[in-house]
Amino acid sequence: MRALITGATGAIGVPLVRRLLLEGWCVGALLRRDLSGEEYRRLFQGHIDTIAGDVTTPLCGVAPEAVAALRGHFDVLIHAAGKTRYHESLREETFQANVAGTRYALELSRALDIPYFAYVSTCYVAGRSTYLGENECGRSAEAHNPYEASKAEAECLVRAHETRTLILRLSTVIGDSKAGEVANAGGYAAFVRGFWLARERILRYPEHPFWVGLNPESTLNLVPNDWVAEHMCKAIGARMSGTIHLAHPEPVRMGWLFDLSVRKLGLPLTYRRIEAERTARWHDPMWRKIQESISEGIVGYFGPYVMRDTTFGLERAAQIPGFRPPSTISQEVIDAQLDYMINNLFQRKRVDRRDRLVRQSLPA
Ligand SMILES: NC(=O)c1ccc[n+]([C@@H]2O[C@H](COP(=O)([O-])OP(=O)(O)OC[C@H]3O[C@@H](n4cnc5c(N)ncnc54)[C@H](OP(=O)(O)O)[C@@H]3O)[C@@H](O)[C@H]2O)c1
Repeated sequence: MRALITGATGAIGVPLVRRLLLEGWCVGALLRRDLSGEEYRRLFQGHIDTIAGDVTTPLCGVAPEAVAALRGHFDVLIHAAGKTRYHESLREETFQANVAGTRYALELSRALDIPYFAYVSTCYVAGRSTYLGENECGRSAEAHNPYEASKAEAECLVRAHETRTLILRLSTVIGDSKAGEVANAGGYAAFVRGFWLARERILRYPEHPFWVGLNPESTLNLVPNDWVAEHMCKAIGARMSGTIHLAHPEPVRMGWLFDLSVRKLGLPLTYRRIEAERTARWHDPMWRKIQESISEGIVGYFGPYVMRDTTFGLERAAQIPGFRPPSTISQEVIDAQLDYMINNLFQRKRVDRRDRLVRQSLPA
Protein backbone atom coordinates (compact mmCIF):
# COMPACT_ATOMS: atom_id res chain seq x y z
CA MET A 1 0.00 0.00 0.00
CA ARG A 2 1.15 3.51 -0.77
CA ALA A 3 0.01 6.37 1.44
CA LEU A 4 0.30 10.12 1.11
CA ILE A 5 0.12 11.73 4.53
CA THR A 6 -0.31 15.33 5.70
CA GLY A 7 0.72 16.31 9.24
CA ALA A 8 3.54 13.74 9.23
CA THR A 9 5.66 15.83 11.64
CA GLY A 10 2.89 16.09 14.27
CA ALA A 11 2.01 14.25 17.48
CA ILE A 12 -0.24 11.90 15.50
CA GLY A 13 1.70 11.84 12.21
CA VAL A 14 5.08 10.77 13.58
CA PRO A 15 3.97 7.52 15.29
CA LEU A 16 1.62 6.81 12.41
CA VAL A 17 4.37 7.10 9.78
CA ARG A 18 6.57 4.84 11.92
CA ARG A 19 3.82 2.26 12.12
CA LEU A 20 3.07 2.42 8.40
CA LEU A 21 6.77 1.88 7.62
CA LEU A 22 6.91 -1.00 10.08
CA GLU A 23 3.99 -2.63 8.27
CA GLY A 24 5.80 -2.28 4.94
CA TRP A 25 3.88 0.64 3.45
CA CYS A 26 5.47 3.15 1.05
CA VAL A 27 4.90 6.60 2.49
CA GLY A 28 4.99 10.07 0.95
CA ALA A 29 4.63 13.08 3.24
CA LEU A 30 3.34 16.52 2.34
CA LEU A 31 5.49 18.90 4.39
CA ARG A 32 5.31 22.67 4.56
CA ARG A 33 8.81 23.14 5.89
CA ASP A 34 12.24 21.86 4.98
CA LEU A 35 13.51 19.49 7.62
CA SER A 36 17.20 19.41 8.42
CA GLY A 37 18.88 16.07 7.73
CA GLU A 38 19.04 15.30 11.43
CA GLU A 39 15.40 16.13 12.10
CA TYR A 40 14.33 14.18 9.02
CA ARG A 41 16.22 11.11 10.20
CA ARG A 42 14.89 11.45 13.75
CA LEU A 43 11.31 11.60 12.52
CA PHE A 44 11.30 9.23 9.57
CA GLN A 45 14.51 7.22 9.75
CA GLY A 46 15.20 8.40 6.18
CA HIS A 47 12.57 6.15 4.67
CA ILE A 48 9.92 8.39 3.12
CA ASP A 49 9.52 10.67 0.11
CA THR A 50 8.59 14.25 0.83
CA ILE A 51 6.47 16.64 -1.20
CA ALA A 52 6.45 20.38 -0.55
CA GLY A 53 3.03 21.84 0.24
CA ASP A 54 0.76 23.71 2.62
CA VAL A 55 -2.79 22.56 3.30
CA THR A 56 -4.11 26.12 3.59
CA THR A 57 -3.57 26.82 -0.11
CA PRO A 58 -5.43 25.39 -3.15
CA LEU A 59 -4.33 21.86 -4.03
CA CYS A 60 -2.31 22.06 -0.81
CA GLY A 61 0.20 24.15 -2.74
CA VAL A 62 1.53 21.11 -4.60
CA ALA A 63 3.29 22.19 -7.82
CA PRO A 64 1.47 21.23 -11.09
CA GLU A 65 4.44 19.12 -12.25
CA ALA A 66 4.32 17.17 -8.98
CA VAL A 67 0.55 16.65 -9.37
CA ALA A 68 1.10 15.30 -12.90
CA ALA A 69 3.97 13.04 -11.78
CA LEU A 70 2.08 11.63 -8.78
CA ARG A 71 -1.32 11.00 -10.37
CA GLY A 72 -2.43 7.41 -9.71
CA HIS A 73 0.55 6.76 -7.42
CA PHE A 74 -1.17 6.56 -4.00
CA ASP A 75 -3.79 4.19 -2.58
CA VAL A 76 -4.83 6.47 0.25
CA LEU A 77 -4.47 10.05 1.43
CA ILE A 78 -4.27 10.25 5.22
CA HIS A 79 -5.09 13.79 6.30
CA ALA A 80 -3.53 14.36 9.73
CA ALA A 81 -2.52 18.03 9.41
CA GLY A 82 -4.40 20.49 11.55
CA LYS A 83 -4.38 23.07 14.31
CA THR A 84 -5.15 21.83 17.79
CA ARG A 85 -5.45 25.13 19.67
CA TYR A 86 -8.66 25.85 21.52
CA HIS A 87 -8.53 29.58 22.07
CA GLU A 88 -11.21 31.89 20.64
CA SER A 89 -8.59 34.40 19.45
CA LEU A 90 -7.24 31.73 17.09
CA ARG A 91 -10.63 31.00 15.51
CA GLU A 92 -9.77 32.22 12.02
CA GLU A 93 -6.49 30.35 11.70
CA THR A 94 -8.02 27.25 13.26
CA PHE A 95 -10.79 27.21 10.64
CA GLN A 96 -8.30 27.97 7.88
CA ALA A 97 -6.10 25.03 8.85
CA ASN A 98 -8.85 22.55 9.74
CA VAL A 99 -11.74 23.35 7.38
CA ALA A 100 -10.05 24.97 4.35
CA GLY A 101 -7.14 22.56 4.93
CA THR A 102 -9.48 19.57 4.64
CA ARG A 103 -11.17 21.04 1.56
CA TYR A 104 -7.78 21.40 -0.14
CA ALA A 105 -6.66 17.94 0.94
CA LEU A 106 -9.83 16.48 -0.63
CA GLU A 107 -9.13 18.53 -3.77
CA LEU A 108 -5.58 17.17 -3.90
CA SER A 109 -6.84 13.63 -3.43
CA ARG A 110 -9.18 14.14 -6.41
CA ALA A 111 -6.40 15.64 -8.57
CA LEU A 112 -4.10 12.71 -7.77
CA ASP A 113 -6.85 10.12 -8.38
CA ILE A 114 -6.52 8.68 -4.89
CA PRO A 115 -9.37 6.22 -4.30
CA TYR A 116 -9.51 6.39 -0.49
CA PHE A 117 -9.38 9.28 2.00
CA ALA A 118 -8.75 8.83 5.74
CA TYR A 119 -9.36 11.84 7.96
CA VAL A 120 -7.93 12.23 11.45
CA SER A 121 -10.62 13.83 13.58
CA THR A 122 -11.40 14.08 17.27
CA CYS A 123 -13.96 12.43 19.57
CA TYR A 124 -14.51 15.92 20.99
CA VAL A 125 -16.66 16.88 18.01
CA ALA A 126 -19.17 15.74 20.65
CA GLY A 127 -18.90 19.27 22.12
CA ARG A 128 -21.11 19.67 25.20
CA SER A 129 -22.94 16.37 24.63
CA THR A 130 -22.31 13.71 27.22
CA TYR A 131 -22.34 10.88 24.65
CA LEU A 132 -21.37 10.54 20.99
CA GLY A 133 -21.92 7.41 18.93
CA GLU A 134 -19.76 6.40 15.97
CA ASN A 135 -22.78 6.65 13.66
CA GLU A 136 -23.54 10.22 14.79
CA CYS A 137 -22.33 13.43 13.16
CA GLY A 138 -20.22 15.91 15.12
CA ARG A 139 -22.12 18.67 16.86
CA SER A 140 -20.65 22.03 15.83
CA ALA A 141 -23.55 23.88 17.51
CA GLU A 142 -22.50 22.26 20.82
CA ALA A 143 -18.79 23.07 20.42
CA HIS A 144 -16.84 24.41 23.42
CA ASN A 145 -14.29 26.15 21.20
CA PRO A 146 -13.36 26.89 17.56
CA TYR A 147 -11.26 23.73 17.40
CA GLU A 148 -14.20 21.40 18.03
CA ALA A 149 -16.43 23.39 15.66
CA SER A 150 -13.84 23.32 12.88
CA LYS A 151 -13.32 19.57 13.18
CA ALA A 152 -17.09 18.91 13.04
CA GLU A 153 -17.36 21.07 9.92
CA ALA A 154 -14.39 19.36 8.27
CA GLU A 155 -15.99 15.95 8.91
CA CYS A 156 -19.02 17.09 6.86
CA LEU A 157 -16.74 17.87 3.91
CA VAL A 158 -15.15 14.42 4.17
CA ARG A 159 -18.53 12.69 4.35
CA ALA A 160 -19.62 14.42 1.13
CA HIS A 161 -16.49 13.30 -0.79
CA GLU A 162 -17.13 10.99 -3.74
CA THR A 163 -14.60 8.23 -2.96
CA ARG A 164 -14.42 5.82 -0.01
CA THR A 165 -13.70 7.73 3.19
CA LEU A 166 -12.83 6.89 6.78
CA ILE A 167 -13.08 9.29 9.72
CA LEU A 168 -10.87 8.29 12.65
CA ARG A 169 -11.95 10.15 15.76
CA LEU A 170 -9.26 10.07 18.43
CA SER A 171 -9.67 11.03 22.09
CA THR A 172 -6.73 12.72 23.91
CA VAL A 173 -3.61 11.11 22.53
CA ILE A 174 -0.61 10.90 24.89
CA GLY A 175 2.92 9.71 24.15
CA ASP A 176 4.16 6.19 23.69
CA SER A 177 2.85 3.86 26.41
CA LYS A 178 6.38 2.84 27.51
CA ALA A 179 8.78 5.67 26.64
CA GLY A 180 6.26 8.53 26.76
CA GLU A 181 7.72 9.84 23.50
CA VAL A 182 5.57 12.41 21.69
CA ALA A 183 6.43 14.96 18.98
CA ASN A 184 4.51 17.94 20.37
CA ALA A 185 2.99 19.26 23.59
CA GLY A 186 -0.76 19.17 22.81
CA GLY A 187 -3.68 17.88 24.89
CA TYR A 188 -2.61 16.51 28.27
CA ALA A 189 0.99 17.71 27.72
CA ALA A 190 -0.30 21.26 27.10
CA PHE A 191 -2.26 21.07 30.37
CA VAL A 192 0.87 20.04 32.29
CA ARG A 193 2.95 22.61 30.44
CA GLY A 194 0.75 25.38 31.85
CA PHE A 195 1.84 24.48 35.38
CA TRP A 196 5.42 24.00 34.24
CA LEU A 197 5.57 27.51 32.78
CA ALA A 198 4.10 28.99 35.98
CA ARG A 199 6.18 26.96 38.43
CA GLU A 200 8.74 29.60 39.37
CA ARG A 201 6.03 32.08 40.20
CA ILE A 202 3.99 29.51 42.08
CA LEU A 203 7.00 28.57 44.21
CA ARG A 204 7.71 32.24 44.94
CA TYR A 205 4.52 32.62 47.02
CA PRO A 206 4.63 29.71 49.49
CA GLU A 207 2.16 31.41 51.85
CA HIS A 208 -0.58 31.29 49.23
CA PRO A 209 -2.53 28.09 48.64
CA PHE A 210 -2.97 27.41 44.96
CA TRP A 211 -6.23 25.87 43.96
CA VAL A 212 -6.80 24.66 40.43
CA GLY A 213 -10.37 24.34 39.29
CA LEU A 214 -11.34 20.92 38.02
CA ASN A 215 -13.81 18.18 38.69
CA PRO A 216 -11.87 15.30 40.31
CA GLU A 217 -14.51 12.70 39.47
CA SER A 218 -14.75 13.62 35.80
CA THR A 219 -12.61 11.61 33.41
CA LEU A 220 -10.03 12.37 30.77
CA ASN A 221 -9.94 9.93 27.89
CA LEU A 222 -6.25 9.25 27.29
CA VAL A 223 -4.93 6.82 24.69
CA PRO A 224 -1.23 6.13 24.01
CA ASN A 225 0.03 7.05 20.54
CA ASP A 226 1.48 3.59 19.82
CA TRP A 227 -1.96 1.98 20.32
CA VAL A 228 -3.61 4.70 18.22
CA ALA A 229 -1.09 4.39 15.37
CA GLU A 230 -1.38 0.60 15.31
CA HIS A 231 -5.18 0.69 15.06
CA MET A 232 -5.28 3.56 12.56
CA CYS A 233 -2.91 1.58 10.39
CA LYS A 234 -5.02 -1.60 10.69
CA ALA A 235 -8.30 0.20 9.94
CA ILE A 236 -6.83 1.95 6.89
CA GLY A 237 -5.11 -1.25 5.74
CA ALA A 238 -8.50 -3.00 5.86
CA ARG A 239 -10.00 -0.09 3.85
CA MET A 240 -12.70 0.42 6.46
CA SER A 241 -15.14 3.26 5.84
CA GLY A 242 -17.48 5.39 7.97
CA THR A 243 -16.47 6.68 11.39
CA ILE A 244 -14.45 4.94 14.09
CA HIS A 245 -13.68 6.10 17.63
CA LEU A 246 -10.24 5.31 18.97
CA ALA A 247 -10.85 6.06 22.64
CA HIS A 248 -10.27 4.33 25.98
CA PRO A 249 -13.14 2.24 27.41
CA GLU A 250 -11.93 3.09 30.94
CA PRO A 251 -10.75 6.70 31.03
CA VAL A 252 -8.80 7.96 34.05
CA ARG A 253 -10.21 10.21 36.78
CA MET A 254 -9.14 13.83 36.61
CA GLY A 255 -8.33 14.07 40.35
CA TRP A 256 -5.97 11.07 40.15
CA LEU A 257 -4.26 12.42 37.04
CA PHE A 258 -3.85 15.91 38.49
CA ASP A 259 -2.32 14.63 41.74
CA LEU A 260 0.20 12.49 39.88
CA SER A 261 1.11 15.33 37.53
CA VAL A 262 1.71 18.08 40.09
CA ARG A 263 3.56 15.74 42.44
CA LYS A 264 5.99 14.98 39.65
CA LEU A 265 6.46 18.70 38.96
CA GLY A 266 7.07 19.28 42.69
CA LEU A 267 4.40 21.98 42.87
CA PRO A 268 2.27 22.82 45.93
CA LEU A 269 -0.93 22.73 43.92
CA THR A 270 -4.18 21.15 44.83
CA TYR A 271 -7.49 21.02 43.06
CA ARG A 272 -10.82 22.39 43.98
CA ARG A 273 -14.12 21.54 42.42
CA ILE A 274 -14.60 24.06 39.69
CA GLU A 275 -17.79 25.49 41.18
CA ALA A 276 -16.00 26.42 44.41
CA GLU A 277 -12.88 27.82 42.77
CA ARG A 278 -13.97 31.43 42.53
CA THR A 279 -15.16 31.85 46.10
CA ALA A 280 -12.02 31.10 48.14
CA ARG A 281 -10.04 34.13 49.35
CA TRP A 282 -11.13 36.15 46.38
CA HIS A 283 -10.55 39.43 48.26
CA ASP A 284 -6.75 39.02 48.30
CA PRO A 285 -5.52 40.89 45.19
CA MET A 286 -2.16 39.14 44.81
CA TRP A 287 -3.64 35.71 45.36
CA ARG A 288 -6.41 36.56 42.92
CA LYS A 289 -4.01 37.74 40.24
CA ILE A 290 -1.89 34.62 40.44
CA GLN A 291 -4.93 32.42 40.64
CA GLU A 292 -6.47 34.01 37.58
CA SER A 293 -3.30 33.66 35.62
CA ILE A 294 -3.17 29.96 36.39
CA SER A 295 -6.77 28.92 36.15
CA GLU A 296 -7.86 31.18 33.30
CA GLY A 297 -4.68 32.20 31.51
CA ILE A 298 -3.39 28.68 31.23
CA VAL A 299 -5.54 25.83 32.36
CA GLY A 300 -8.63 27.67 31.16
CA TYR A 301 -7.81 26.68 27.58
CA PHE A 302 -8.14 23.07 28.61
CA GLY A 303 -11.10 23.82 30.90
CA PRO A 304 -13.92 21.78 29.32
CA TYR A 305 -11.76 18.66 29.34
CA VAL A 306 -10.96 18.79 33.07
CA MET A 307 -14.50 19.47 34.20
CA ARG A 308 -16.89 17.17 32.47
CA ASP A 309 -17.31 13.69 31.08
CA THR A 310 -18.13 12.61 27.61
CA THR A 311 -18.36 8.96 26.66
CA PHE A 312 -17.88 7.66 23.16
CA GLY A 313 -19.40 4.70 21.36
CA LEU A 314 -16.75 2.07 20.57
CA GLU A 315 -18.59 -0.65 18.65
CA ARG A 316 -17.05 -0.04 15.22
CA ALA A 317 -13.53 0.23 16.64
CA ALA A 318 -13.91 -3.33 17.95
CA GLN A 319 -14.45 -4.46 14.33
CA ILE A 320 -10.96 -3.36 13.24
CA PRO A 321 -9.17 -6.59 12.20
CA GLY A 322 -6.82 -7.64 15.02
CA PHE A 323 -8.34 -5.09 17.42
CA ARG A 324 -7.14 -5.19 21.02
CA PRO A 325 -8.33 -2.79 23.73
CA PRO A 326 -5.78 -0.22 24.96
CA SER A 327 -3.96 -1.23 28.12
CA THR A 328 -4.74 0.45 31.44
CA ILE A 329 -3.45 4.00 31.87
CA SER A 330 -1.46 3.17 35.00
CA GLN A 331 0.76 5.34 37.17
CA GLU A 332 3.78 3.95 35.24
CA VAL A 333 2.30 5.10 31.93
CA ILE A 334 1.67 8.62 33.30
CA ASP A 335 5.14 8.73 34.89
CA ALA A 336 6.69 7.91 31.52
CA GLN A 337 4.72 10.75 29.90
CA LEU A 338 5.80 13.26 32.54
CA ASP A 339 9.46 12.18 32.41
CA TYR A 340 9.46 12.60 28.65
CA MET A 341 7.75 16.00 28.79
CA ILE A 342 10.10 17.36 31.45
CA ASN A 343 13.29 16.02 29.89
CA ASN A 344 12.46 16.71 26.25
CA LEU A 345 9.41 18.77 25.32
CA PHE A 346 9.57 21.46 27.99
CA GLN A 347 13.30 22.03 27.53
CA ARG A 348 12.97 23.02 23.88
CA LYS A 349 14.12 26.51 23.07
CA ARG A 350 11.32 27.28 20.61
CA VAL A 351 8.76 29.52 22.30
CA ASP A 352 5.49 29.45 20.42
CA ARG A 353 2.75 32.04 20.44
CA ARG A 354 0.72 30.40 23.19
CA ASP A 355 3.70 30.19 25.54
CA ARG A 356 4.37 33.87 24.98
CA LEU A 357 0.73 34.72 25.76
CA VAL A 358 0.86 32.66 28.92
CA ARG A 359 4.11 34.29 30.07
CA GLN A 360 2.70 37.78 29.46
CA SER A 361 -0.43 37.01 31.45
CA LEU A 362 1.50 35.96 34.57
CA PRO A 363 2.22 38.41 37.38
CA ALA A 364 5.86 39.52 37.39
N1 LIG B 1 -3.00 14.95 19.54
C1 LIG B 1 -4.23 14.61 19.92
O1 LIG B 1 -4.49 14.31 21.11
C2 LIG B 1 -5.35 14.56 18.91
C3 LIG B 1 -6.57 14.02 19.34
C4 LIG B 1 -7.62 13.97 18.44
C5 LIG B 1 -7.44 14.41 17.14
N2 LIG B 1 -6.24 14.92 16.75
C6 LIG B 1 -6.16 15.41 15.37
O2 LIG B 1 -4.97 14.98 14.77
C7 LIG B 1 -4.52 15.95 13.84
C8 LIG B 1 -3.04 16.19 14.11
O3 LIG B 1 -2.91 16.65 15.44
P1 LIG B 1 -1.51 16.63 16.17
O4 LIG B 1 -1.79 16.44 17.62
O5 LIG B 1 -0.57 15.71 15.47
O6 LIG B 1 -1.06 18.14 15.96
P2 LIG B 1 0.42 18.73 15.94
O7 LIG B 1 1.33 17.91 16.74
O8 LIG B 1 0.28 20.18 16.23
O9 LIG B 1 0.83 18.57 14.40
C9 LIG B 1 0.17 19.24 13.40
C10 LIG B 1 0.67 18.75 12.08
O10 LIG B 1 -0.04 19.42 11.03
C11 LIG B 1 0.92 20.07 10.21
N3 LIG B 1 0.36 21.29 9.68
C12 LIG B 1 -0.24 22.29 10.36
N4 LIG B 1 -0.60 23.28 9.52
C13 LIG B 1 -0.22 22.88 8.29
C14 LIG B 1 -0.31 23.46 7.02
N5 LIG B 1 -0.85 24.67 6.84
N6 LIG B 1 0.17 22.77 5.95
C15 LIG B 1 0.74 21.56 6.12
N7 LIG B 1 0.87 20.97 7.31
C16 LIG B 1 0.40 21.62 8.38
C17 LIG B 1 2.11 20.36 11.11
O11 LIG B 1 3.26 20.58 10.32
P3 LIG B 1 4.51 21.49 10.80
O12 LIG B 1 5.53 20.53 11.28
O13 LIG B 1 4.90 22.20 9.56
O14 LIG B 1 3.99 22.42 11.87
C18 LIG B 1 2.16 19.05 11.90
O15 LIG B 1 2.73 18.04 11.11
C19 LIG B 1 -5.33 17.22 14.06
O16 LIG B 1 -6.19 17.42 12.98
C20 LIG B 1 -6.12 16.93 15.33
O17 LIG B 1 -7.43 17.43 15.24
C21 LIG B 1 -5.18 15.00 17.60
